[in-house]
Amino acid sequence: MSIRKRLIISHAAMIITPILVLVVIMGLLHIVFTGNSSSGFGTWGDTDSDTQMELFTQLKKTVSLHEEKLFDESYLHRINEQLDKEETYLVIRKGNHLIYSSKEVETMTLDELPSFGSEESRPVVIRNGEDHFSVLHYDFYFQDGIKGSIFLLNHAPSFVTYARVFFPIFILSLILILFITNATLSYFMSKKILRPVNQLSSASDKISRGDFDFTIKPQGNDELNRLLRTFDHMRLQLKESIELRDQYERNRRELVANISHDLKTPITSIMGYVEGIQDGVADTPEKQKQYLDTIHSKTNYINQLIEELALFSKLDVNRETFHFEKVNITAFIEDYQREIEDDMDEKGINLNLNGHTTSNVLIDRNKMIRVIQNIIYNSVKYIEKTPGEISVSLTDKEKMVEVCINDNGTGVPEEDLKNIFNRFYRVDASRSSDGSGLGLAIASQIIHAHKGNIWAENRNSGGLRICFTLQKVEDEERG
Ligand SMILES: Nc1ncnc2c1ncn2[C@@H]1O[C@H](COP(=O)(O)OP(=O)(O)OP(=O)(O)O)[C@@H](O)[C@H]1O
Ligand SMILES: [Mg+2]
Repeated sequence: MSIRKRLIISHAAMIITPILVLVVIMGLLHIVFTGNSSSGFGTWGDTDSDTQMELFTQLKKTVSLHEEKLFDESYLHRINEQLDKEETYLVIRKGNHLIYSSKEVETMTLDELPSFGSEESRPVVIRNGEDHFSVLHYDFYFQDGIKGSIFLLNHAPSFVTYARVFFPIFILSLILILFITNATLSYFMSKKILRPVNQLSSASDKISRGDFDFTIKPQGNDELNRLLRTFDHMRLQLKESIELRDQYERNRRELVANISHDLKTPITSIMGYVEGIQDGVADTPEKQKQYLDTIHSKTNYINQLIEELALFSKLDVNRETFHFEKVNITAFIEDYQREIEDDMDEKGINLNLNGHTTSNVLIDRNKMIRVIQNIIYNSVKYIEKTPGEISVSLTDKEKMVEVCINDNGTGVPEEDLKNIFNRFYRVDASRSSDGSGLGLAIASQIIHAHKGNIWAENRNSGGLRICFTLQKVEDEERG
């Protein structure tokens, strides 16, 4: 549930709950008060008791049948005694005189009593601002034609007494209920809000200290928990980018170290040969030629290394420009195969092309030659048997063409397969001493720039297979 909804419900509950509880308490108080009416309390407009009504009817009959009894003290006294038990008092009015008043109300004046003809209104008589009487009222005419009224005054509980007991209870209950409702709702609401807020605050604290290795556990789907989720996502991304930055920094250091090493070795040997000539160690023209040839091959190597490094770093920072063209991949490989045919013959290697596809791919010709060349010449380098076998196979996939170059060389230990595309990675540095370990890294960068994939696997029959994919150019794009 959203926090907005929860707040609305909580605010509504803060109003509704006290009202409901108050209604219940009022009801209970009502029962308590009315239940005690016989012991002195009664509520306003209480229904008249049976005895009262009986005596009231009897008095009405007396009026019409034995009017003289209304002047009979002993008769009235008897009635009065019975009424007294009900805390009800009798008053009889004739004209402007009160001809009978019970002792308890004998001080009551004519003005305080309801007027003749108002018997339907069931009024309440208030005496001295304190005593309340609910009134049963009967009007009639005496035989001599004078207006008469009979009043049964029921001593209702004093409003002040009632209020004195009732209002403190009411106010106290109100305060208590408001306090309890408020405290309960605040507790649950703050728990719901504070938990994620605390999590956020401790997470921000950890991140500011560079600690990204913790988990945030959002519970629910409200606004704050959604914020927690986004925050956790941000933490993961930040962690990844920092790891990447560290990785780049490590790579940079490694690169500098490798370059210095790879340049230092041939330069040291060149210096040795130059000194050999200078010092006259190479004392015959044959020896001198041999020294110079070695110096030439070492400088060649350095030149090649620098050229590879320059290409690699350009590809690494995306500075190398690509000129993509639509090319028939079968024809493209066949052309390249023809180009290196003589060289392969010379090296005693059979180079075959298997599979055929009419599909066109979008490639940069020169860069693709570089890829194929790097892979094929690796095979040439690592084939130890004769005849060497290299085959290029083409497979049509749904949106890709898969190119695989297979050899019957030494293969690569399984655990090294995933690393051979890393810069400067050489499985056995001593065996591939003339390589810099950049050939496959460059191939991988070029293939990725073509939005393809490259991978290596060992062949069951022995030897290595390196495959890469190239995106096909769709038919409609060809036209
Ligand atoms: N066909 C293969 N057979 C066996 N091992 C291979 C083959 N191709 C590559 N490797 C291994 O993978 C490593 C990386 O190859 P990569 O072409 O990147 O570097 P390199 O050939 O050593 O040097 P460079 O290509 O820069 O002259 C090689 O050193 C070698 O150990
Ligand atoms: Mg190589």
